[in-house]
Amino acid sequence: MVVWIRCERLDRRVPARSGDRIYERLRAAQVPLASSCDGSAICGRCRVQVEGPVDPPGPAELEVLDKQGHQQGRLACCTRVRGDVTVSTTYW
Ligand code: FES
Repeated sequence: MVVWIRCERLDRRVPARSGDRIYERLRAAQVPLASSCDGSAICGRCRVQVEGPVDPPGPAELEVLDKQGHQQGRLACCTRVRGDVTVSTTYW
């Protein structure tokens, strides 16, 4: 089943499958997304705000977010979609 990742401020909508990671789908669609670890859950630069059904964060993601002092947001490279979602960043 196709689900959609909407990037409202870019006026983009990217198709995905349930279980896909946001990072991989946006990168494949050439949506600009910061990263210096290429999706390895190390750098924390792929942090986004997500609205919609996604899997809960795991310990590795929570550790990166905590080290960087972020109380909100998700790492796109760790976040698997389970339905239509809307994503935003601080830079778009
Ligand atoms: S791309 Fe580095 S933590 Fe997600």
